[in-house]
Amino acid sequence: MSELNTKIYKQDDDSGIAKAVKALQSDGLVAFPTETVYGLGANALKEDAAAKIYAAKGRPSDNPLIVHIADTKAVYDLASEVPETATMLMEAFWPGPLTIILPKKNIVPDGTTGGLKTVAIRMPSHPVALSLIKESGLYIAAPSANTSGRPSPTEASHVAEDMMGKIDVILDGGAVGIGIESTIVDLTGDIPTILRPGFITKSMLEKIVGPVKIDPALINPDPSLRPKAPGMKYTHYAPKGELTIVEDKNQTKATTSDKVISLINQLTSEKEAEGYKVAVIASEDNAPLYTCNHILIAGDSSKGETVAAKLYAILRKCDSLEVEYIYSEAFNKGELGSAIMNRLLKAAGQRVIQV
Ligand code: TXA
Ligand code: MG
Repeated sequence: MSELNTKIYKQDDDSGIAKAVKALQSDGLVAFPTETVYGLGANALKEDAAAKIYAAKGRPSDNPLIVHIADTKAVYDLASEVPETATMLMEAFWPGPLTIILPKKNIVPDGTTGGLKTVAIRMPSHPVALSLIKESGLYIAAPSANTSGRPSPTEASHVAEDMMGKIDVILDGGAVGIGIESTIVDLTGDIPTILRPGFITKSMLEKIVGPVKIDPALINPDPSLRPKAPGMKYTHYAPKGELTIVEDKNQTKATTSDKVISLINQLTSEKEAEGYKVAVIASEDNAPLYTCNHILIAGDSSKGETVAAKLYAILRKCDSLEVEYIYSEAFNKGELGSAIMNRLLKAAGQRVIQV
């Protein structure tokens, strides 16, 4: 692939959206902010444009893309059936961090859906994303704008790290608000099923549509269960150093137990004594209790949204610091606990020490 001259535009630069629209209309690639993470967009209805996304990310071709829209009417262009559960969820959560899976119409190319007969659709709430979709007059296929396997970008500088020379435009909208990817709900079966946990939780969905299931492959470590969202089977987010989560199995409060803190201190001082570069991922409240040289503060463990907002930037920071071993507290309490731990466990390759 030949090098592209990637242009970065700040949100207050009015020429940015126009340049981005032009790139999308010529089947190019544009990274843009959404409220969850930065997306890497292309014309969703053009197979050749979508193919460029896979090349830029190094993404496996069986991993389908989410189609981003700015008007609920678009759902009827893209999906062959729209059940009542879909209209209820659209009404309740769009624009916002929810993706729905529906049977696709033929205009959605197989290149966008990884050969699946279903399509993932989301209406983001970020004003830059909405303007881009509206002004281009296109539906925009967009995965997260990271190199496949790396943490999703939550700042334009993360996109630049992975995508300079590979895409046409980066729209810099500053740091995103939520920080983890949208909740994905499959509406093609009898009962709505969560394929990826996110900011919109199971209980929030159940208030609108009644009982909701979770894809069994997300909760059962049995590797023979295949997740229904193809992307959920891949290793993801992993920093270059070896990440281990240290967790107190019997703990109920959001604050981390003394046992966890003392074990992390023991492990980090052992590794540092052996000459390794080591980091700890800690909640704000516990950070002063660690002795390690590099302490990365993930937010307030009793407020999951503060952890979600910082998690990916911290995983990237581990790489820029070139740390070789990383020990993290578990952030499993509260409404967002399962969404955060789903990402952290992947980043850790499921390595957990229970105290
Ligand atoms: O918040 C988000 O959803 C962000 C922003 C940019 O909108 N996008 C994002 O896209 O996270 P990506 O490509 O990184 O993740 C999409 C996930 C993958 O796990 C993929 O397998 C799944 O959605 N997916 C897409 N289409 C699907 C389908 N038809 N059936 C099941 N899973 C699907
Ligand atoms: Mg992704």
